[in-house]
Amino acid sequence: MFDYKSGLDFAKELDQKDTLAPYRNQFHIPKDQNGNDLIYLCGNSLGLQPKTTKAYVNQELEDWANLGVEGHTEARHPWLPYHEFLAESMAKVVGAKPIEVVVMNTLTANLHFMMVSFYQPTPERYKILIEADAFPSDKYAVESQLRHHGYDDKEGVILWKAREGEELLRYEDLEAILEKHGNEIALIMIGGVNYYTGQYFDLKKITQLGHLYGCMVGFDCAHGAGNVPLNLHDSGADFAVWCTYKYLNSGPGSLAGAFVHERHAYNKNLNRFTGWWSHNKQTRFNMRDEFDQLPGAEGWQLSNPPILSMAAIRASLDMFNEVGFEKLTEKSRKLTGYFEFLINELNNEHIKIITPKSSDERGCQLSIQVKNADKTLHQKLTEAGIICDWREPDVIRCAPVPLYNSFEDVYKMVEILKAILNE
Ligand SMILES: Cc1ncc(COP(=O)(O)O)c(C=O)c1O
Repeated sequence: MFDYKSGLDFAKELDQKDTLAPYRNQFHIPKDQNGNDLIYLCGNSLGLQPKTTKAYVNQELEDWANLGVEGHTEARHPWLPYHEFLAESMAKVVGAKPIEVVVMNTLTANLHFMMVSFYQPTPERYKILIEADAFPSDKYAVESQLRHHGYDDKEGVILWKAREGEELLRYEDLEAILEKHGNEIALIMIGGVNYYTGQYFDLKKITQLGHLYGCMVGFDCAHGAGNVPLNLHDSGADFAVWCTYKYLNSGPGSLAGAFVHERHAYNKNLNRFTGWWSHNKQTRFNMRDEFDQLPGAEGWQLSNPPILSMAAIRASLDMFNEVGFEKLTEKSRKLTGYFEFLINELNNEHIKIITPKSSDERGCQLSIQVKNADKTLHQKLTEAGIICDWREPDVIRCAPVPLYNSFEDVYKMVEILKAILNE
């Protein structure tokens, strides 16, 4: 626990002592009309652009201009193995082995490709368990997989719900569901960090429980990657997917990640969709050979990848590697703890933080419920220079990101919120 104090001076003192503070200057911080920095707390939606990104992308544009097709082998970072340059650093960020990680496609597409392999329903075991407040795209994806296999998309989905009057999910309720329905469930697919409440689940615990009942277990880590130490390998999960445009600061709609646990790396019997990029690299260009499955997560690729998007990911991952995840987590806990302290100091009966209190059960995001508020509150915050997001009916989600947000950002945000609420 940190010993926080109120007042702007304390925020400034924390910023002065913050060894990661210089990284803020390595990002483009959006500005208001007068050229002042906006208070950007929306890294849970779209991360900011590192200043180095342009140079990384430009390098590929130059190589393409100068080399044309030769760039596949002759570019400064040759395009043929380009995804391999990302695997090692991405693996560090999500706590996996390089063979378990690949950057490809987009998030929902990866979720489908993973379900092709890890959702293998039978008439006895065909249901999919998700959290009740799963991100809509995940829910739609899961339902469409059920329909695709000829099952009813309502009856086939089992929801892990919060209890009446609560927002957070309890593990004992998951255990109870599994005790009752474990033998009917083919797949458990949970958002590693819930997008709405910010609850960071114990991936290992869920995986062990799921495996005990013979279910496959996968996670959507869109809100976890680059935010919390996911330790995917150690969790034992069968698969995970995530995007790179939130905490991984790689640009709107940028490519996504996928993790397939090492124990599946050499299994050629797993059902999957394939393309030439899932084929053995040594013989890929012989073209006429019979399909020869690449081992590891790479073996789930289909196509030659978009290098410009990968260049942006490389820029971002280089920064993550330089900082190291331990330092990031340390600052993140301190920054979000400070945010929580200030919100609690408001002592306003209409405000409730629905995100877990324990820093082991959350990342940087706080979801703040403001009872009786409507979207005009969000509009006022935006007009006052705070970029955060609003989720109906009454929740503001704010994510102070340790790489570019300051303690002063958080202080100012709470002061502005206080002024608006006192109007
Ligand atoms: C948890 C979660 N799942 C899925 C998606 C959809 O992502 P995409 O549009 O990249 O497929 C998002 C997007 O924000 C998300 O937060």
